[in-house]
Amino acid sequence: MAAKRTFHIAVIPGDGIGQEVVPEGLRVLDRLAERSNGRFGFEYESFPWGCRYYLETGRMMAPDALDVLRGFDAIYFGAVGWPGVPDHVSLWGLRLTICQGFDQYVNLRPVRLLPGVTSPLRHATPETMDWIVVRENTEGEYAGIGGRNLGGRGPGKEVAIQAGLFTEEGCERVIRHAFALARQRQRRKVTSVTKSNAQQYGMVLWDEVFARVAAEHRDVETEQWLVDAMAARFVLRPETLEVVVASNLFADILSDLGSALAGSLGIAASANLNPERRFPSMFEPVHGSAPDIAGQGIANPIAAIWSAALMLEHLGLTDEAASVMHALEAATAAGQLTPDLGGTCTTRQAGDAVLANL
Ligand SMILES: NC(=O)c1ccc[n+]([C@@H]2O[C@H](COP(=O)([O-])OP(=O)(O)OC[C@H]3O[C@@H](n4cnc5c(N)ncnc54)[C@H](O)[C@@H]3O)[C@@H](O)[C@H]2O)c1
Repeated sequence: MAAKRTFHIAVIPGDGIGQEVVPEGLRVLDRLAERSNGRFGFEYESFPWGCRYYLETGRMMAPDALDVLRGFDAIYFGAVGWPGVPDHVSLWGLRLTICQGFDQYVNLRPVRLLPGVTSPLRHATPETMDWIVVRENTEGEYAGIGGRNLGGRGPGKEVAIQAGLFTEEGCERVIRHAFALARQRQRRKVTSVTKSNAQQYGMVLWDEVFARVAAEHRDVETEQWLVDAMAARFVLRPETLEVVVASNLFADILSDLGSALAGSLGIAASANLNPERRFPSMFEPVHGSAPDIAGQGIANPIAAIWSAALMLEHLGLTDEAASVMHALEAATAAGQLTPDLGGTCTTRQAGDAVLANL
């Protein structure tokens, strides 16, 4: 028998429902390891970082967090954010620090209608709703460049500048990733989304890089759309979408819209990838900590479990990733749904339903 491969996973459940959905993903991973006949296993180390940690220590993570995380094969993350800690503090102190520090420049966010789930779109089917958003994940509007000043001039006089950063290299590498992904899909098509009529520097640079990379991929159909028109197209003609690549902010907003169209934010998964594997990649649900439902045991675990499937794929366990997706689909098709999808399952019951179909 081949030697057992042990994957070392850093687990950061974070705040609110992050604490409730991450355990469901871990149960799925453990079940796969149990069934692997000793082929592979997972070793987890859990970190208590998040808003409670911040209130106790003044930091969202330990000062040496990146050094500690660097040695893991992957990071499995829940969500951060809690009333009492400003959202920009919690986001910058943890998620953005990891994404930028580990150069996780590709954020993949699949949008897919699962069987048994009702879309708010009247004519949606699993066939017409199946695309992936590729989000630039280290620069753009979330580069963190800017500042506030001139408050000394008196009340109402303060000035803030928030700059978008678009580097040719940053645009090119994420756009290339989108094309590589398109070549793996049945329909080879990439749609680039910008707002270069209004943002004439960074987004025009993006457009030019897109056109240059597209010219090297003649086998892939391409389109360039403005983000406002694309928001409408997500709703009106979702069947025309395949791979959608966009800047940090635009793709963030569009993917929430996509997940709502696919039934709920509670099913939207994501992978923050450092494709060159110089650093660990991070896998997390798209949703936040949902303080409005936290502690009730009704959070949908699908986004977290699907994110675990994306992690399996990244770790080279592609068959296992596919079996998790089949199990998720079997569970939703059987109506084992949490309240956000119109069902009555608790988080644990929804997790049980996936395990039962593994
Ligand atoms: N990656 C992250 O860590 C991340 C992402 C987004 C928001 N946040 C933070 O989370 C906090 C709450 O933000 P928000 O309310 O804007 O977004 P949210 O995603 O937490 O919640 C938005 C809505 O979707 C629902 N929802 C989200 N996930 C769900 C799930 N798994 N099952 C059922 N319903 C679900 C919530 O109940 C809520 O009504 C804020 O502090 C915000 O900064 C963190």
